[in-house]
Amino acid sequence: MTNFDWKNLEFGYQKTNINVRCYFKNGKWGDLESTTSETIPMHISATCLHYGQEAFEGLKAFRGKDGKVRLFRWEENCKRMADTARGILMEPVPEEIFFEACKQAILQNQEFIPPYGTGASLYVRPLLIGTGPQIGVKPAGEYLFVVFVTPVGPYFKGGFKPVKVQIERDSDRAAPRGTGKYKVGGNYAASLAAGRRVQQAGYAAALYLDAREKKYIDECGPANFFGIKDNKYITPLSDSILPSITNKSLMILAKEEGLTVEQRKVPVEELATFEECGECGTAAVITPIALINDPANNTEYTYCTDGIAGPVCTKLYKKLTAIQLGETEDTHNWNTIIC
Ligand code: PLP
Ligand code: COI
Repeated sequence: MTNFDWKNLEFGYQKTNINVRCYFKNGKWGDLESTTSETIPMHISATCLHYGQEAFEGLKAFRGKDGKVRLFRWEENCKRMADTARGILMEPVPEEIFFEACKQAILQNQEFIPPYGTGASLYVRPLLIGTGPQIGVKPAGEYLFVVFVTPVGPYFKGGFKPVKVQIERDSDRAAPRGTGKYKVGGNYAASLAAGRRVQQAGYAAALYLDAREKKYIDECGPANFFGIKDNKYITPLSDSILPSITNKSLMILAKEEGLTVEQRKVPVEELATFEECGECGTAAVITPIALINDPANNTEYTYCTDGIAGPVCTKLYKKLTAIQLGETEDTHNWNTIIC
């Protein structure tokens, strides 16, 4: 049944055995339920449909070198989903429900976990939506939490291969003091048109600037941005970007590798001074950046021309993936062994 070409798997949806659901009704969460259904019957006036009461998360489970299945930093995704929920007045999902739903979804779909050494992993997608009806702009009284899984390959074609990105100057994905720091669907809706535009122009992703002044780097498509220079790992500090768990992990690993970590505003002009740049996220892992085009002045910042990632990106990528795959000691207790 799971006759996948694991090594060439794309980042896409595949049907699995079951997904796990939990309903919040009458002021409390119910029991977890497993279902084979891929659809959600819903009230026509559900707040997720009209007023964007929707949050999602993305985390990964890996089949390790020892055959064990490890879920990476789920507590962080759970916390971020709760922050998002509070940010748009939804009911936060308690830790035990979040974890148990992820665990059940993984355990009951074990044949979809890609084998060790294929470069693929099991993507875990928690989703929280307002299902209660409203017609005035108000939060729902009922919520649905769903966790489904799907086996995935690299988000950007080719995996750990440098990509070209383009600075987006015609739109913003999030406003200052808006919802950029939350993982809500509306941010992604706001990025679709720019994403298509840059892809049609031959770039892998749009690099967003701060919406107020258009002076500083924000983030890059579905990932955070970092630059490397003078033995420093530099990543934007901004209240309109998603606080990436991968980036948080890389900041710790970079320090361990002897780099100085700076989380601060990164002016666009500083792009000219970086030795290496990359995007990081659960789906993107580390995707090195070969070139950044700025359409405002038709400037190209080039970091590599031979299709080979720089040494710091390579070292960090190896260090992070070795932990996730159980190839090296998990000194930070980032993995939870599921089976
Ligand atoms: N930024 C955006 C907009 C994202 O969608 C993601 C993906 O989750 C990230 C950054 C990276 O976050 P994380 O490393 O937690 O997956
Ligand atoms: C992730 O990296 O998990 C994401 O959520 C990115 C994405 C929207 C595919």
